[in-house]
Amino acid sequence: MRFISYLPVASLTIWGSQATGDAQQPLYDIPSVQSSSPLIDLHKALVERPSITGSEANVTNFLRSYLQDTGFTVETQVVEKNRENILAYFGSSRKTRVLVTSHLDTVPPHWPYERHGDVIRGRGTVDAKGSVATQIIAVQTLLQEDKIKEGDVGLLYVVGEERGGLGMRQVNELGLSWESVIFGEPTELKLARGHKGGLGFTITAKGKAGHSGYPETGTNAIDSLTRGLAALQRLELPWSEDFGNSTLNIGKIEGGVAGNVIPADAYAIGGVRVAAGTPNSLKGLIETAILKSDPNLEIEFTYGIGPVPTDYDCDGFETVVLNYGTDIPSLKGKHKRYLYGPGSILNAHSAHEFLTVSDLEGAVKGYQRLITNSLESQSTI
Ligand SMILES: *[C@@H]1O[C@H](CO)[C@@H](O)[C@H](O)[C@H]1NC(C)=O
Ligand SMILES: *[C@@H]1O[C@H](CO)[C@@H](O)[C@H](O)[C@H]1NC(C)=O
Ligand SMILES: [Zn+2]
Repeated sequence: MRFISYLPVASLTIWGSQATGDAQQPLYDIPSVQSSSPLIDLHKALVERPSITGSEANVTNFLRSYLQDTGFTVETQVVEKNRENILAYFGSSRKTRVLVTSHLDTVPPHWPYERHGDVIRGRGTVDAKGSVATQIIAVQTLLQEDKIKEGDVGLLYVVGEERGGLGMRQVNELGLSWESVIFGEPTELKLARGHKGGLGFTITAKGKAGHSGYPETGTNAIDSLTRGLAALQRLELPWSEDFGNSTLNIGKIEGGVAGNVIPADAYAIGGVRVAAGTPNSLKGLIETAILKSDPNLEIEFTYGIGPVPTDYDCDGFETVVLNYGTDIPSLKGKHKRYLYGPGSILNAHSAHEFLTVSDLEGAVKGYQRLITNSLESQSTI
């Protein structure tokens, strides 16, 4: 498959098929010379406004006005004080066949917007304001070109994705359903076949304090904890052809008071990226290993989600499986689920978060293709 896309705003990308299949890859880009376009300006306005999880109001207020000013009907859903989700659509049909969605919050700290030629840096440029801006421009353009109409597509922007998905879980209260939902997160312009699930836990060791010269007078909680963690490292975690290996990360550890005191307390926080099986079977496996390794250990699980398959029945994309969590499992319903967006997850939460103008322009095309494909396919409801 082959197509040539003439991007009217800033640059020209030539697309071609690779020898290995019909995955679409840009063969080369002619660098953008334009310093601004509606897409670049919208992305900039979103990134300039800090929106660390919990403090999204600045960007929410901006986006609500922006969408109203560009002709959408806009509803807000209060999630908590000063925290709102935004739902936008054309005319009066809040029920639409397709929903395009992403999140407005970012991880801390805020990094300012900076642009040098094709490269745009700053917190949220990738995760997920790149998706937000390109989705909106994609929908606006399809409407201008008469390719979509009232009742076809809705836009939803939620708060709280980076810390538990509170915003998206509240969307279930809206009483809406869709045939297809297109989720925007960084996928390097590839169409996801799914993402791993996650299982979080805290392991706590209870010991007894004492003088380090007299080990028999106490019980060392750090020794207990390290035995438990060593047992976890040895565990064979489930894997699957589709999602690869489940992986373990111990991300925080704390305990004790001084080098010459037997520690009475210690704990570790960690998680598994789940590639196979159910969260419950994995919980059982981990709990058994911990409890067998040392009698002074306890484990508490904080969340558990199995692998999340997504739909990829749309031509013209390379596909990928991702190792991060999203809002997808938080939105209930029988809709088809697509996951796609510009930029790489590998730099999304880092201090060097960046994206290119060509990525943004490519994502507008990608979202248009996904939306059109969803509208053309047979209704499943
Ligand atoms: C929103 O963020 C912009 C950019 O940082 C800032 O200039 C503006 O004062 C903020 N507005 C509010 C209401 O905090
Ligand atoms: C999964 O783990 C096995 C054994 O540790 C390793 O050989 C293999 O390369 C891993 N697969 C992936 C996709 O990382
Ligand atoms: Zn994200």
